[in-house]
Amino acid sequence: MGIKENKANGVECAFDILREGINEVIVATEQNAAPMGVIRKKDSLHMAVYLTAHTAQILQRCPFAVLHITDDPRWFVRTAFFDPDPEEYVLEKCTDFFIPRLREIPSWIACTCRVQNKTKEKLLVSLTPIRVVQSPHVFHPVNRGYNSVIEATVHATRYVDTKDPKLGDLISFHLGVAQKCGDEAVKEAVKMLLQHLSEQGCTIVISYR
Ligand SMILES: Cc1cc2nc3c(=O)[nH]c(=O)nc-3n(C[C@H](O)[C@H](O)[C@H](O)COP(=O)(O)O)c2cc1C
Repeated sequence: MGIKENKANGVECAFDILREGINEVIVATEQNAAPMGVIRKKDSLHMAVYLTAHTAQILQRCPFAVLHITDDPRWFVRTAFFDPDPEEYVLEKCTDFFIPRLREIPSWIACTCRVQNKTKEKLLVSLTPIRVVQSPHVFHPVNRGYNSVIEATVHATRYVDTKDPKLGDLISFHLGVAQKCGDEAVKEAVKMLLQHLSEQGCTIVISYR
């Protein structure tokens, strides 16, 4: 299996990769990266982006995004809370434009973006794939540790602002599952997440129920 690339029109390849429903990816916009959910309904792709995210501010002036496809939870923890260094990006020519993408994540979909609706809270952005690169990948069985550390990270992005104890309990539960079921990559992601939470003054005790 070699690298699958469709330079002329990425749409078909993109729809082989992205499932119906919500796909969790790392979205790069200019030199900014964050985990986001890409919503697929039949042949349309959207993101709902909170205006508090830098991603929303950038998308209103620069209508391009690269969706990085990875199951490495360390990318999700890292980019939820920190921006990668500028050297971690490479410029990729897509149609007539150079778009920054993350060098270390080899599968990606470059898209043009259009703001379809703006509320007080969120932007609804439609995405049109313009180039797809898919690197060879070994399929692994479902691992609850991988799923749970992503769940914990989603809750943590809200918990750092709200300190809502219900979110704290969910984080604690999911980190317990992650520690029990995950491999070294998951455990490293757990460690990164706990460290970030503690730097934000949030103490989470992992639940091993
Ligand atoms: C798996 C995952 C999915 C997320 N999906 C979204 C989303 O769809 N929309 C959104 O606004 N934030 C989402 N977030 C939260 C953002 O990633 C988070 O607020 C991040 O700090 C935004 O970074 P930015 O300010 O660089 O844009 C998600 C977080 C995770 C971990």
